[in-house]
Amino acid sequence: MTKFKRYTVTTALPYANGPLHIGHLAGVYVPADIYVRYLRSVNKDVLFIGGSDEHGVPITIKARKEGVNPQDIVDKYHTIIKDSFNELGISFDIYSRTSLPIHHETASEIFSNLYEKGEFIEKTTAQYFDVEANQFLADRYITGTCPHCSYEKAYGDQCESCGTTLNATDLINPKSVLSGNVPVMKETKHWFLPLDKYEPWLRKWILEEHKDWKPNVYGQCKSWIDQGLQPRAVTRDLDWGVKVPLEGTEGKVLYVWFDAPIGYISASKDWSIKTGKDWTPYWKSDDSKLIHFIGKDNIVFHCIIFPAMLHAEGSYILPDNVPANEFLNLENDKISTSRNWAVWAHEYLAELPGKQDVLRYVLTSNAPETKDNDFTWKDFQAKNNNELLAIFGNFVNRTLVLTHKYFEGKVPEITSLTESDKQTLIELSLFPEKIAKNIYTYHFRDALSEMMNMARLGNKYLTENEPWKIFKTDVERVKTIINISLQITANLSIVAEPFIPFTTAKMNSILNFTALKWSHAGRGDLLKPQHAINQPELLFEKIEDEVIQTQINKLQKSKEDNVVNNAVTEPPKKEITFEDFAKLDIRTGTIIAAEKVAKTKKLLKLTIDTAFDKRTVVSGIAEFYNPEDIIGKQVCLVANLAPKELKGILSHGMILMAEDADGKLVFVSPTQMVKNGMIIK
Ligand code: MF3
Ligand code: ZN
Repeated sequence: MTKFKRYTVTTALPYANGPLHIGHLAGVYVPADIYVRYLRSVNKDVLFIGGSDEHGVPITIKARKEGVNPQDIVDKYHTIIKDSFNELGISFDIYSRTSLPIHHETASEIFSNLYEKGEFIEKTTAQYFDVEANQFLADRYITGTCPHCSYEKAYGDQCESCGTTLNATDLINPKSVLSGNVPVMKETKHWFLPLDKYEPWLRKWILEEHKDWKPNVYGQCKSWIDQGLQPRAVTRDLDWGVKVPLEGTEGKVLYVWFDAPIGYISASKDWSIKTGKDWTPYWKSDDSKLIHFIGKDNIVFHCIIFPAMLHAEGSYILPDNVPANEFLNLENDKISTSRNWAVWAHEYLAELPGKQDVLRYVLTSNAPETKDNDFTWKDFQAKNNNELLAIFGNFVNRTLVLTHKYFEGKVPEITSLTESDKQTLIELSLFPEKIAKNIYTYHFRDALSEMMNMARLGNKYLTENEPWKIFKTDVERVKTIINISLQITANLSIVAEPFIPFTTAKMNSILNFTALKWSHAGRGDLLKPQHAINQPELLFEKIEDEVIQTQINKLQKSKEDNVVNNAVTEPPKKEITFEDFAKLDIRTGTIIAAEKVAKTKKLLKLTIDTAFDKRTVVSGIAEFYNPEDIIGKQVCLVANLAPKELKGILSHGMILMAEDADGKLVFVSPTQMVKNGMIIK
């Protein structure tokens, strides 16, 4: 098929600060596992790599919140994640972790090597520092007001209200998460990877030599490169991670995105230590094909930064392909860990036991290969009941039952072939190639649907030939029909293995033969006459409405809990005196004009009639209200708030709003019409 002698297949190392969910599985691990199982079936030499990403700031934040060490957090989730992969049949050769000494050694070595070669730029920059906590603050450790939308709890790297990417220094009124104090600026030294220097090489390597990459991947790379690459800091002031291997760098570690992809190499060494096999050809031989399976948020790291690191180092191979997927949504809403809007792998496994293949099947048939896709429980049920059960399971089951009923469980011989038998055998012979080609080019959905078409072929064959109607009159004909049906079944057990390996293992044991390799697929003589098969058992069972409803209710509940949690997590503010309260001048007024503020998503410009004036107020409610719908609405407003400029408009006062259960802002208004300009007291 290619010049490649061996395959090094990596999967994004999941952060060990939470369990796996279906988005991870659909985007990365299920497709990678299909690919690898196929390669093994065609006798390729493969090293399939996974592991936990155990560094980075979010892990330290979670540990702080829970009052434990970061190591406790990663130990807990590493185990949960590893067990889920295992139970789902993700067939890693090694599932490693980045807190292992072998990883720290490997990452330091690569850093030192680049350092000695003079690849890094050293820069001293001013960073926020918390004097009380005596430490530099990662962007996530600083909160403040977003300069774009005035949201008061924006983080130093991003405002979660308007979605803008920020620098910590952009925040208005910055505060340290550690102590609540105002941080000071302090100088600190860091090492930068000069991506700008590698730009000409990257341009050629990706944009000219890798036009074969998926359009979403190629497009993202092109846009990064065209925007001009900047040097990237590869060290951080943090006490969790791989220590910077240089003198006088106390309190500094490698940036998590520097060490994590090196984790693929350390995992290979870990494998080597455990198996006694040599890891080097998988990383240092030009006839090894390196493929990174990732989600779309990881593209720049795997296509630009990591390759630039390896290129600068000089002794490693570079990825041949990075088939990144888009995102999977859940019931029409973005999957979110913090909102608990997810189907968690370990919960699925516990609540729907024995249904690993159903999940693998549904996630593959719905894989977000070219665009974001949606997982819904109703669709999950339909795919199980109408496809796996009604087509695949039904065909295999009918074939096996008839073999027992008519021939005492022994494979009958072919007596003579009709034209339509011959046609069926030809069609059968064409499938393996079509499926293989799709898998090999990362079109897993298409591959899966061809696999299902093969089962359809079997179903159609049985239905058209109706052996049960002619058994009494033409047993010779029935022998041929059952033989061919059994051959299709045996073929299915080969080509379906990458997708639904638990099911094919069951099929093999019923068929009473050892799993065959891909090269056997397509043939009409896999099961020899007189070969005895075992008693059939059902491959799939119907999923009832109640089961699905339970899952939907569970999601619904997590939506409600979220609302309650959010309400309680907002602690009461500090007590104030009556005099403080009396300073507020809250008045009634009526909206007499409203329009969207150009170039913003959230802001409306309102004109309020307060009886004593007509004033402009800019309010962040555009997502919830159309301007024309709120004209005439009576509102309450803080009238003596100092005017403030928002997007070039002077806003005079603030409208009172409250958040409803879905996070929508609703007006706090008098319950019956009152005069404008009345004092609220
Ligand atoms: N932990 C990262 C994430 O979940 C992925 C790391 S991939 C690796 O987004 F290459 F860095 F390992
Ligand atoms: Zn914002």
